[in-house]
Amino acid sequence: MNAPEKDIKSAADEALVLFMPSGKRGRFPLGTPVLDAARTLGVYVESVCGGRGICGRCQIEIQEGHFAKHGIESSNAHISEFGPKEKRYAQKRDLKDGRRLSCSSTIEGDLVVDIPQDVQINAQVVRKAAQDRYIERNPAIQLCYVEIEEPDMHKPLGDLDRLKSALERDWGYSDIIVDHPILPEIQSVLRRGNWAVTVAIHQDMESARPSMIAVWPGLKNEAYGIACDIGSTTIALHLSSLLSGATVASAGTSNPQIRFGEDLMSRVSYVMMNPDGREAMTLAVRKAINELIEDVCRDSNVDRNDILDAVFVGNPIMHHLFLGIDPTELGGAPFALAVSGAVHSWASELDLDMNRGTRVYTLPCIAGHVGADAAAATLSEGPHRQDKMMLLVDVGTNAEIVLGNASRVVAASSPTGPAFEGAEISSGQRAAPGAIERVRIDAETLEPIFRVIGVEEWSDAPEFAEKARNSGITGICGSGIIEVIAEMYLAGIISEDGVVDGALAEKSARIIADGRTFSYVLHDGHPRITITQNDVRAIQLAKSALYAGIKLLMEKQNADTIDSIRFAGAFGSFIDPKYAMVLGLIPDCDLDHVAAVGNAAGTGAQMALLNRGHRREIEDTVRVIDKIETALEPKFQEHFVNAMALPNKVDPFPRLSAAVKLPERRQPVEADGSLDTRPRRRSRAERGSRPGRS
Ligand code: FES
Repeated sequence: MNAPEKDIKSAADEALVLFMPSGKRGRFPLGTPVLDAARTLGVYVESVCGGRGICGRCQIEIQEGHFAKHGIESSNAHISEFGPKEKRYAQKRDLKDGRRLSCSSTIEGDLVVDIPQDVQINAQVVRKAAQDRYIERNPAIQLCYVEIEEPDMHKPLGDLDRLKSALERDWGYSDIIVDHPILPEIQSVLRRGNWAVTVAIHQDMESARPSMIAVWPGLKNEAYGIACDIGSTTIALHLSSLLSGATVASAGTSNPQIRFGEDLMSRVSYVMMNPDGREAMTLAVRKAINELIEDVCRDSNVDRNDILDAVFVGNPIMHHLFLGIDPTELGGAPFALAVSGAVHSWASELDLDMNRGTRVYTLPCIAGHVGADAAAATLSEGPHRQDKMMLLVDVGTNAEIVLGNASRVVAASSPTGPAFEGAEISSGQRAAPGAIERVRIDAETLEPIFRVIGVEEWSDAPEFAEKARNSGITGICGSGIIEVIAEMYLAGIISEDGVVDGALAEKSARIIADGRTFSYVLHDGHPRITITQNDVRAIQLAKSALYAGIKLLMEKQNADTIDSIRFAGAFGSFIDPKYAMVLGLIPDCDLDHVAAVGNAAGTGAQMALLNRGHRREIEDTVRVIDKIETALEPKFQEHFVNAMALPNKVDPFPRLSAAVKLPERRQPVEADGSLDTRPRRRSRAERGSRPGRS
């Protein structure tokens, strides 16, 4: 917290100190160690050696110059001279020019103190440089170096007891719980370290008793943590230094549970139909995670025993299967979670191969359809931290939707089905080399150009054919489907009701009869890629489900407009917000305020790994999020039907219209009644029955 202004204007024997990048500042008596000043202001500066000048974790830099905004004249002359501890450290290790050890330098005048990026913040975690976001660290693990008294016949205090006393004396930790496996080893570790050891303390909540989870002889100057997002299709894992925040390696793999069922409900069915189904799926996901841990450790040359903390997120079914919980109850109404709050475990309880003392934190789930992954995405994007109304959408087979601001947050899931991922589309495929991902259609000639994944050039470039030879042009992926249907609408090939205009067949050979409906030929090659009437309808059904869910949440919030939209997840990363809005996937919004945010769930998991304060933040937020069950809302159907039109039958899109010339509204083209505009048949789960029993 910034020091109050009245404190900042104060005596002459005090100095004003500003810490960057946090911007926290305060006045301190001359002679105060810079590290103490940082601690007082709540600026997290790492220290393993407790200020002995041997770990080098507390490095800072002084910014020189006049900082008019803050009224500070900062200079290296305003910090104590390079002292003996710093000289010793610089001789033994590498201390870059201009760097100081904050534990061993004191404030002698006004200062602007920089916590260097490589020490404090992870540049990769700052995923979006444009937003200039950084994760302030406050991890649940602290490494504490201590030197303890040797045993003395006249003071029969046990070795471990003297270690605990030293931890209280040097680090302020009292009432420490000691993990039992440490007991048989403590004497040999102390002697190997010549009575100097480094202890790993785990304290998830500042009010909780600290736990001693590992001990090493001498100075141990590094510890790691993992953040893992278990998706139903892929698992992504990041290995980060808990002391610097740096992400040292990342790895991903497909979720091996796919062999038990492509989608979530078929995996629940598998559990119900097979006596060992749950165990088999739990085993499969944990094995995959262990392999990823092996990968990241190998890539970064890290010993897996040095991983001391882990954070996991996933949708409710992935969350349950990972924790070894039967997900059957999530297969039908009322979609009861076995546990919705955050879960604290030991890695060994989950068969995860790390240090035997490693702790695991699993984020809370929001509801039976809206999981810990949505909670993590919420933590990352922060609708609950906004004054304005933010919509967060993670599009998958089930879209998870969160809408809100600092006053109130509501959440729901919507049954979009797999069309956005390329399934149910005649030429659809997953995003892979050769898949069409971008499309433009000339409104005059109806001729298309497109781009495929793996080739930079558009299809009308002379070098395109050569460059696309390897991958071929194999199909169309989710972002391509969104674009081609939006472009077909903008070019007048389909009406606002989504009907392909067969009359255009006279004008263009691209429009071809397909039974009683018409299709658009996007690529006349091998294979021939066409957009059929059924493809358009599948996308209409999916986007209507998403929009209807969003609309319900807007009504709950009494919100007519949305100020910003965040697309999370792989799909969201590739779709162009403009086309998503032309189709009416999302409500009208200033296009400049619509952004793809990548794997927001993974970022949220990293935030919870590096800062335990973020764990409390999301626990508190999830507790008060209003959960809306779209299946039970009577107006869902009405919103759904209105959303079948492009972009929408009733809702205006003034901000989109200002940016994109939308076609004039016209009478729907007759499609001899073949266009079915009923909502997608809701899955067994959505209908409230249990899979495998209907
Ligand atoms: Fe270890 Fe400063 S705290 S060198």
